[in-house]
Amino acid sequence: MLNINKIYYGGDYNPEQWTEEIWREDMRLMREAGVNLVSLGIFSWAKLEPKPGLYQFDWLDRILDLLHANGVQVALATATASPPPWFSRLHPESWPVAADGISYKPGSRQFYCPNSAAYREASSRLAGEMARRYGQHPAVWMWHVNNEYGCHVHECYCPVCTKTFQEWLRERYKSVDVLNDVWGTAFWSLGISDWADVQLPNRTTSYRNPAQVLDFRRFMNHSLLNLFKAEIEAIRSTGATQPLFTNSVFGLKALDGFEWAKYQDVTAIDMYIDPAHGDQAWKDGAFWHDLTRSWGRGKPYLLVEQTTSQVNWRAVNSLKAPGTIRTLSYQALARGASSVMFFQWRASKSGAEKYHAGMIPHYGVDGSRIFAEVKQIGAEFAHLERLGSQQAHAQVGILFSYENVWALEIDSKPAQLDAWNVLRPWYNALIEQNIPLDFIHPNDDLSRYKVLIAPLLYQISEAQAENLKSFVQAGGLLLMTYFSGVTDLNERIWLGGYPALLQNLLGIKVEEWQPFQPGKTNQMLVDDKSISCSHWADLLYTTTAETIATYIEDFYAGRPALTRNRYGAGTAYYAGTLPDQAWLRNWIKKICAEQGVESLVEADPDIEAGLRAGAYGSSTLVLVNHANRTAQVDLMGKRGRSLLDERPVTNNLTLDPYGVMVLELEQ
Ligand code: GAL
Repeated sequence: MLNINKIYYGGDYNPEQWTEEIWREDMRLMREAGVNLVSLGIFSWAKLEPKPGLYQFDWLDRILDLLHANGVQVALATATASPPPWFSRLHPESWPVAADGISYKPGSRQFYCPNSAAYREASSRLAGEMARRYGQHPAVWMWHVNNEYGCHVHECYCPVCTKTFQEWLRERYKSVDVLNDVWGTAFWSLGISDWADVQLPNRTTSYRNPAQVLDFRRFMNHSLLNLFKAEIEAIRSTGATQPLFTNSVFGLKALDGFEWAKYQDVTAIDMYIDPAHGDQAWKDGAFWHDLTRSWGRGKPYLLVEQTTSQVNWRAVNSLKAPGTIRTLSYQALARGASSVMFFQWRASKSGAEKYHAGMIPHYGVDGSRIFAEVKQIGAEFAHLERLGSQQAHAQVGILFSYENVWALEIDSKPAQLDAWNVLRPWYNALIEQNIPLDFIHPNDDLSRYKVLIAPLLYQISEAQAENLKSFVQAGGLLLMTYFSGVTDLNERIWLGGYPALLQNLLGIKVEEWQPFQPGKTNQMLVDDKSISCSHWADLLYTTTAETIATYIEDFYAGRPALTRNRYGAGTAYYAGTLPDQAWLRNWIKKICAEQGVESLVEADPDIEAGLRAGAYGSSTLVLVNHANRTAQVDLMGKRGRSLLDERPVTNNLTLDPYGVMVLELEQ
C-alpha cells in the first residue's frame, strides 16, 4: 500500500559516475536543497553485474546507507534499463531490428528486443537479486522498475518478433478464418492460409493492412508489458513488499498507460516540455500530467523526471527561463502529482548526456541560478506536505484510448492525422479556462462525469457506444467531434452513415467529409455571426438534432456544422468541424455551465489553476503564473490561507511574473 504524506522532491542519482568523496558532498547538498527522494541505480547494470552472474553490491550498499543516514528515501531501480555489453555479446539474437529491417548495434542504451527471452530472463534475474538484497532496506521506499520502457525501442522487426507475433495472433484469434475476417484480408488478396504467412508490417510496397498494423501496435505494447510483469514477479517472489512503478515518458504513444497502470502502485511520468514552444509549453505539460493522473484513475502520481534547464537531445536546446523551474514544478502540484524530481542530481562530466542540465550544474552550486531555484523549491515544498495525499478531481472527461490513438494515426486515412495535434484544441479549450478534466477510457464507468468530450473518437465498439448512450440517457452531456465512431476496434467501418452506432444519440448522419488542405479554412454562421473553422468539414444530415451552426462557404454552404440533440435526460452535441479557438473556448464554457460545471477561477490566460481535495473536506488551490508579467486572478468567492507565507487571501489577487500561490481553502 502506498502511503504518501508529503511532497517528494529530488532526482535521478547516479553516484557510480562520481567518487565517494563527491558522494559525501552530495549528501550535504541534498540536505541543503531539501531533497528527500532519489531514483537510484537506473543505469547501473554493468557496475552491479560486471560479468554474467557476478554481482557487486558493495558500492550500492554504501550509498544506500549514506542516503538513509541523511534522511533521503530511495526509489531503487531494478537497474535493468540498459543491458551491459557482455549481455549483447552473448545474445546477438536480442539485438532489436528497426522498421527498415536493419539491426541496431550495441553502444547506447535500452538495447534489447522486447521479445528477447534472454533479456527477459536476465533482467528479471537482476530485479530478483536486487529485491532479495534490498527488499528490507530501510532506505528503499519504492521500486523503480526498469526505465521508460519503449522510449527508444517500442517496436522491433526481428525474426523472434515475427514468430512471437504469429503465436500471439493464434492465441488471440484461434483460427486463420477469424483472423482473415478481422483483418479484412479479402482486400488486395491478403488472405492467409497458415499462421506462418503472417509477416511484420514493415517494408511493404504500398499501404500495409491497417488492421494488421493495429494488431502489431497491440502486440508490441503487450510484449513490453510482459517484460515489466516479469520484473514485478521477480521482485514479489522474494517477498519484497515495497510499492513499485515504472516511469513513462512525455510524448510516448506506444504504450497503453491505462493498461500499464493496473500493475503499478502509482503512475509516474518524465516530463520534457520544450521551453521554445512559448505559451504552448505549459499546456503540453498539463496534458501529460492529466494523462498520467488519469491512468491511475485520479490517484496522486509521481513526476519522476524533468530538467532544471536544458536537455541535450533536441536539434536546438532552449534554457528554462529563470523562475520556470519553479512554475513547472508547481504545475505538477496543481495537477495532482505528489513528487517533483529531476534528471539528474549532478550534471554528468562525460557520456552522451553531459550537456543535459542537472540540479547541480557543471558550474557548481555557489552563485548558480539553477541551484538557487532548486533550493528555493525544496524549501517551499517542506510547507506543502498536506498536498501529498490530496487528489485532483474533475467533472469533465475527455474520452481517450491508446487504441484509438494508434488507429487514428495509421496511414491510408482521408487525411494523415497526428493524435496530439487533433486533440490539442479541445484539451486546450478546457485548460485555458481552468476547467479541470480527466482523460477517461471509453470502456470505463462514465457516471462520475457531468460532461464528456470525445474528440476524434474514431473507433468505437458496440459496448462503448452503449456506454455513451447510457451516460447521456441518464442526464450527461456529450460533445463529440468529426471522425468519431467510424470503425469498430479492428479498422472495420460501421456501415450506414457515420457514426452508425451513435446516429440516434446524436440525431445526425454523416455521408461525406472534407478534410481541409493545409491553410484552408471555412466560416460557420452561428448566432448571426461568422466564425472561422478549420481542419475538416463533415457533410451531415440532421435527423432529430437541431442545427446550431451552418457552413458559409463552398459547395456545402448552408449544411449543418454544429448540432445539438436531446437524448433521454441528457444532451449530445456534435461538431462536424473545428471552430476557431476563442469561440470554441466560450462554447465549451457555456456547454459546461449547462451542467453546472465552472472554471476554478477567472484569470488572465497565463494562469494555470488546480484544485486538490483530501480527507474531511480539506482542499487546496494551486495557482501558477506561467508568464513573465503580472496576472490577475478572481477567486470567484473562494477564500483561504496562502501556505507559503501564511497570508489570508480573498477574492481578487495579483500574481507576480512567474509567481505561484498555494491556498488552503476555507471549508
Ligand atoms: C529520460 C531518461 C533519462 C535521461 C533523460 C534526459 O528520457 O529517463 O535517463 O536520459 O531522459 O532528458
